[in-house]
Amino acid sequence: MTDPGDTPPTVFVLFGASGDLAARLVLPAFFRLAQEKLLPPSWQLIGSGRRKLSDDDFRAHVREKLDEFGPATDDGPWDDFAARLHFASDGFSVDDPGQLVDKVAQAEQELGEGDPSTVQRVHYLGVPPTAFGPTTDALGAHGLADRSRVVYEKPFGTSLESFRELDEAVHRVYDEAYVYRIDHFLGKEATQQLRALRFANGLFGTSWDRHHVAAVQIDVPETLDVADRAEFYDATGAVLDMLVTHLFQVAAEIAMEPPTSLASDDIAQARADAVKAFRPLTTDDVVRGRFDGYLDIDDVADDSDTETFVAARMFVDTDRWRDVPFLMRTGKMMAESHQKVSLVMRDPQGGPYCPAGEDGNPACADIPPRGNVIRFDLSGDGELSLSMNIELPGSQSELTTQWTSIPLHDVRGGDPLPPYVRLIHDILLGDRTLFTRPDGLEEVWEAAGAALDGSAPLHSYEPGSWGPREALRLAEPIGWTLGDQ
Ligand code: BG6
Repeated sequence: MTDPGDTPPTVFVLFGASGDLAARLVLPAFFRLAQEKLLPPSWQLIGSGRRKLSDDDFRAHVREKLDEFGPATDDGPWDDFAARLHFASDGFSVDDPGQLVDKVAQAEQELGEGDPSTVQRVHYLGVPPTAFGPTTDALGAHGLADRSRVVYEKPFGTSLESFRELDEAVHRVYDEAYVYRIDHFLGKEATQQLRALRFANGLFGTSWDRHHVAAVQIDVPETLDVADRAEFYDATGAVLDMLVTHLFQVAAEIAMEPPTSLASDDIAQARADAVKAFRPLTTDDVVRGRFDGYLDIDDVADDSDTETFVAARMFVDTDRWRDVPFLMRTGKMMAESHQKVSLVMRDPQGGPYCPAGEDGNPACADIPPRGNVIRFDLSGDGELSLSMNIELPGSQSELTTQWTSIPLHDVRGGDPLPPYVRLIHDILLGDRTLFTRPDGLEEVWEAAGAALDGSAPLHSYEPGSWGPREALRLAEPIGWTLGDQ
């Protein structure tokens, strides 16, 4: 990670500071950055919210949440960290800035040592998507947008129309260069490895196409329930929460053409171009599901049509990927939790294991199905693995499949960081490589097609299962690499 030594003094405003996202992800990431000495030499964090909290109340709240979700506070520089935390009560809107403007001015006086204009501002909108527009307007109206970067959580819009409205609202206040849209799957360590494995190794780079890959699978089943955030979830659903956000961005990372360089703009451009080549999903390509019992959860609407599971088969209209299915699947309350991205390699086209069959095409009857797979495990610290068909030692030419793995935390000299830690570090330093751009997000809504337009029926599934059986059809004839077939 880059040494933040030259970063100017920074005031970090966290909207939604007493909310769930702040507690689980943003505040723990901030504390970890402090532990790793990756924060600017001089900084303060101001939490903003409607609640009436003193600075000390907020410090106590942060400590409690860190002890629950983050690096334990007795394990690091808590006293120094706590002294830099402040809270601005009474909300923040165009009509009423609450305490925020005054609190920012006070922090800048202290940090700027008499010259507040040297202080950079970062506004992190850890608030529901409906509050993105109004909060951005308020930042503009109260002069807080000057000298600042602004960070939005996903989903950035819920349809093409709402995306465009939000994009316009943001650009009325901000130049695009200062906008950071988070999709934390792009910040995962193993997602970075997609690029390295492919572009730094001739063996894999030359295999990254339809001649070698039979199917791409981005499989993110979760055992997680949604009861503790049912209101958000019921208004969002698996398609918006995961498919057209995290899973599409990972698909773009796999599908991209080689970027001209590793420069931020080149990578973001390659990712955006890949999304533009996604073929819109048809009804036949989408299976939506809802686990039994979902409608009984408090805060879920009785007439809810929200899906808790989605599987999709997408095609990418480039020469490289024509006719290769990109299979994506995710859901809550499923049998197991994984975040696995698999490139299922084709069987050999001929040769001793694949002699010509009766129809003249190679028949590879002895080769185990889904035996040769390149896999990226995005969960935790991340892991790369490869499965190969090898001869079972001691057998008479019998093939078996064997996996070999590189857990990223085992890489000597490496220090894997959770995605929010990495992304917040990049925001503080002004590196936009791992953030989404409007060109590339706009096309997402078109590609989402039948996943969003409600034309795909909602099937039920048992909690603890692999989702509706209908999703198996999408992966035929290869089959999903995870779960029961
Ligand atoms: C979030 C979704 O963005 O990503 C959650 O809102 C999901 O529903 C989560 O569980 C998965 O990511 P991670 O990093 O927690 O494994």
